[in-house]
Amino acid sequence: MENNRENFGSKIGAILAAAGSAVGLGNVWRFPIETGQNGGAAFIIIYVICIVLLGLPIMMSEFLIGRYTHSNTAGAYRILSNGSPWKWVGRLGVFTGWFILCYYNVVGGWTLHYTYLSATNAFAGVPASEFGGMFTDFAGNPWIPTAWFVVFLGIVHFVITRGVQAGIEKFSKIMMPTLFIITIVLTVCSLCLPGASEGVEFLLKPDWGKVTSTTILQAMGQAFFSLSLGMGCLCTYASYFDKSTPLAKTAVNVSVIDTFIAIMAGFIIFPSVFNIGMNPNEVGAGASLTFISLPNVFQQAFGDGSVLSVVFSSMFYFLLFVAALTSAISLHEVATAYVTEEFHLERKKGACVITLSLLALGILCSLSFGPLKDITLQQLAAWLTFGKVDVTGVSAMNIFDMFDSFSGMVLLPLGGMFIAIFAGWVLDKQLYKDELSNSGEIKTPYFKLLIFSLRFIAPVAIGLVFLDQFGVFSFLK
Ligand code: TRP
Repeated sequence: MENNRENFGSKIGAILAAAGSAVGLGNVWRFPIETGQNGGAAFIIIYVICIVLLGLPIMMSEFLIGRYTHSNTAGAYRILSNGSPWKWVGRLGVFTGWFILCYYNVVGGWTLHYTYLSATNAFAGVPASEFGGMFTDFAGNPWIPTAWFVVFLGIVHFVITRGVQAGIEKFSKIMMPTLFIITIVLTVCSLCLPGASEGVEFLLKPDWGKVTSTTILQAMGQAFFSLSLGMGCLCTYASYFDKSTPLAKTAVNVSVIDTFIAIMAGFIIFPSVFNIGMNPNEVGAGASLTFISLPNVFQQAFGDGSVLSVVFSSMFYFLLFVAALTSAISLHEVATAYVTEEFHLERKKGACVITLSLLALGILCSLSFGPLKDITLQQLAAWLTFGKVDVTGVSAMNIFDMFDSFSGMVLLPLGGMFIAIFAGWVLDKQLYKDELSNSGEIKTPYFKLLIFSLRFIAPVAIGLVFLDQFGVFSFLK
């Protein structure tokens, strides 16, 4: 409840900023593949149910906690916890966001490099089998990925230092419509390809036979990551909402935009995959899909080296860049708001502290595919136990993967679970209702269901996702 804090200048600015956070790499490189492999429309239906039953209640809670306290995430939980250990939930969130950024910015740099390669027609004439080597050579290079990473982080830093209205909001108002237009153009181009209908069918034909308990857990995990939940990202943005912002409506808008872009990403990717007769199960996921399969797919589908393929690929990687950028900005803001408010620094100084720390760790992540590739979890385990313990069972993941896995598999689910329990059990119900209804102005017929989800459905569901990742269920079987 600090004074002199900036707010977003408009409701549309607030929605676009939050949507910018939500729409990110997760939408483009995870959602389409998960949908294709898990029964198409069946997966989309389960995903939407997860959003309604888990995503929306948690998003509304994060919004509410931020707007009510008008404070950074750590401050918000401190204010609401009255000295109890719940204050640690906010701090955990700040740490998680910072931790995710250490590798997320590196991928942001990759999207810039691939935009550049596409625009300069560097994929022309490259045989299909060479794209893998092209990417590993690039990622393993000691300088190039690191330079792009620094450029990406520099842009994030620039926007953050300009502040909430002149930086984040203004930028979202330019970038989100741009992202939207590019998405539509790419979708239309892709759907015009011969054989596009097969791709659409792959994505949309409901195949309930493919749905297993793992599918449901996957849908939940994806819903969480895609909506930027579980660490106070949206809580920080909501601390810049003014009192008249309708929380539930904003949450619904953000979720609809996020899901729409995710489904469109599928329409961009699969028609071209089917067009060139590739098996969608071979395209891989995540980085290998995006930086190895797709450059090849786009070259083949739109004509190797043709103007159309240059335009299409450049737009696609630029889209990915914009999506990653607005998400990275939202994560950076969590940490910047924290250091500026809790340690009373100027915004510029606070942002510098965060950027410099991200620079240091990001370089480690960036180099972990090249010069530092031998520093693996297994190696670290051996060092830490002075070589006295057998570490052959420990994963040989590199530094980048350690940051990715630890945040995705441990920090985010824990954060999400704590936030649900906090909002459902600890937060005063009257306060919750007052805030959600803007002191009685908005009707909240869903209030009981919301609280029920926060108390029971969400904590149990997230707990299951968490345990499943460590193979606890297969272990029990
Ligand atoms: N939602 C973004 C994506 O889809 C990533 C992201 C931004 C995020 N902020 C977050 C994920 C907070 C979890 C928590 O790529």
